Amino acid sequence: MTNLPPSQSVSALADLYDPLSAQSHEDPYPSYAVLRAQAPVYYCARHDVWALSRYADVRAALRDWQRFTSTQGVEMADYVGFFGEGNFLELDPPAHDTIRRILAPRFLTRAMRSYEPIVRQSADEILDELPNAGEVDLGTGFTQRLPVLTICRLLGIPAAQVPWAVTATTEMMTRPAGESGPSDRAAQLRTELVELFRSEVARRGNGAEHDDILGDIARAIHEGVLTVEDIPGICLLLIAAGMETTTSLLGSIVDALASGAVTAEEILQDGMVSGEAIDEFLRYDAPVQWLCRVTTEPVTLHGVTIPAGARVLMLYGSANRDPEVFDAPDELRIGRDTSRHLSFGEGIHFCLGMPLAKLETRVGIAGLLGRYRRLQSAGSPQRYPSHIIRGFERIPVIVGD
Ligand code: HEM
Repeated sequence: MTNLPPSQSVSALADLYDPLSAQSHEDPYPSYAVLRAQAPVYYCARHDVWALSRYADVRAALRDWQRFTSTQGVEMADYVGFFGEGNFLELDPPAHDTIRRILAPRFLTRAMRSYEPIVRQSADEILDELPNAGEVDLGTGFTQRLPVLTICRLLGIPAAQVPWAVTATTEMMTRPAGESGPSDRAAQLRTELVELFRSEVARRGNGAEHDDILGDIARAIHEGVLTVEDIPGICLLLIAAGMETTTSLLGSIVDALASGAVTAEEILQDGMVSGEAIDEFLRYDAPVQWLCRVTTEPVTLHGVTIPAGARVLMLYGSANRDPEVFDAPDELRIGRDTSRHLSFGEGIHFCLGMPLAKLETRVGIAGLLGRYRRLQSAGSPQRYPSHIIRGFERIPVIVGD
C-alpha cells in the first residue's frame, strides 16, 4: 500500500505522522516504521509537508539537488533565511560549491591532527570547571560547551571574545518550546555576532597573515571570490551547524554510559571512543532527525506524485532504522557495519564538519572518562525542545572517582 496524494487521501492514512507532535518529539521511531511500511511517500496535511522515510528514497532525493532544492530553506518554520546570505546549506550549485570549496581544506580529515590539541585543551578547560564529585548536569556543563568553544577557536575569534561568543551563540540557538520563529533576543544576538565576524574579517585585511577560518574568508573576499555580504551566513552556519548536533552525539554517549546501556570498555579503543561506536550512536539516534527540500518539478515515487513546490522532509532518523539496510535496526549494536548511515546527510550538502564532530567526540569522551571513573545517572535527561534536533539539553549525572 502506498500513500495517496492529498486529493485522494483516506482517513486511515491521514494521521500516521506529524513531525511537530509531542509523540514525534518523544519517540518518532514507531511512526517511522509505519511510514516505511505503509506510506513511504506521505503527505501531512496539517503542516502541508511531505515525508520520505525509506533509506533508498531519502538517499536518492538528497543526491538529486536539481529536483529537490535547498534554496527555499531546509527547515519547516520561520527560521528560513535567518542566517542570511552566504549560508551555503541553503544554496544550490554553483554558489554552494564556490563557498564550500573555500572552506573545505579546514575540514579535511588530515587537518584534524593539528586541531587535536585545541579540542583537548577546550575539553580540559571545561572539565576543570566541573566539581570532582557529586551531581553535575553534563549537558549544560559539558556536552553543550565543547563544540561551540572549539569552533570559536577554529574560526579565530580572539580569546577575550570567545566566552561572549560561546554564550551568545548558545542563547541564539536556544529555541523555547512552542516558539515558531526566532525571538527578538535571538535576532539581536545574531546582529551582535555578525558585527563581531565582520570586524574580525576586516581586521585580517587580505588574510595572508591569519591561519584561521576568518582569515580564509578575508582572503577569498580580497581575491573577489566572496563578498562581505557572504560573511553572516557563512560564519553563523559554521558556528551553529556543529553545536546542537555534536552536543547530541556527545549526549547520547554520556547518557548511555551513565545509564549503564554501554560500558567504557565497549566503546573505547586505544583510550579513545572507537569510530565504530561513534557511527553506531549516530545511526541509532540521528542528531538531525530531518531537514527539508522543496521540489522544483512534480516527482513521482511509488506511484504517488509530489507536486512542484512541495516541502519534503528527508527523514534521516527513519532511513537509519530501515530494516532493508540494517539488521535489527532498533538495537544499538556496537561493531555492526554502520558505514551507510545517513546522519551526516548525503550528496552535495554532506556534512562538512564530520571529521571535526568525530574528533570532538573521540577526545571529549576520553577526557570525561579520564576525569571521572564513576558516571551514574541522577535522573531522566531532558531533551532539546526542537523537533529537528534529537538530543539532550540536560543530563543529570553523579560523577566521582
Ligand atoms: C554529530 C555532529 C553533526 C551532525 C549529525 C551533522 C549533520 C549534518 C547534516 C545531516 C548535514 C546535511 C544537511 C542537509 O542535507 O541539508 C550537515 C551539513 C553541514 N554541517 Fe554538519 N553535522 C554535525 C557536525 C558538524 C560540525 C562539527 C560542523 C562544523 C562546523 C558542521 C558543519 C556543517 C556544514 C557547514 C554543513 C553544510 C554543508 C553543505 O551545505 O555543503 N557539522 N551536517
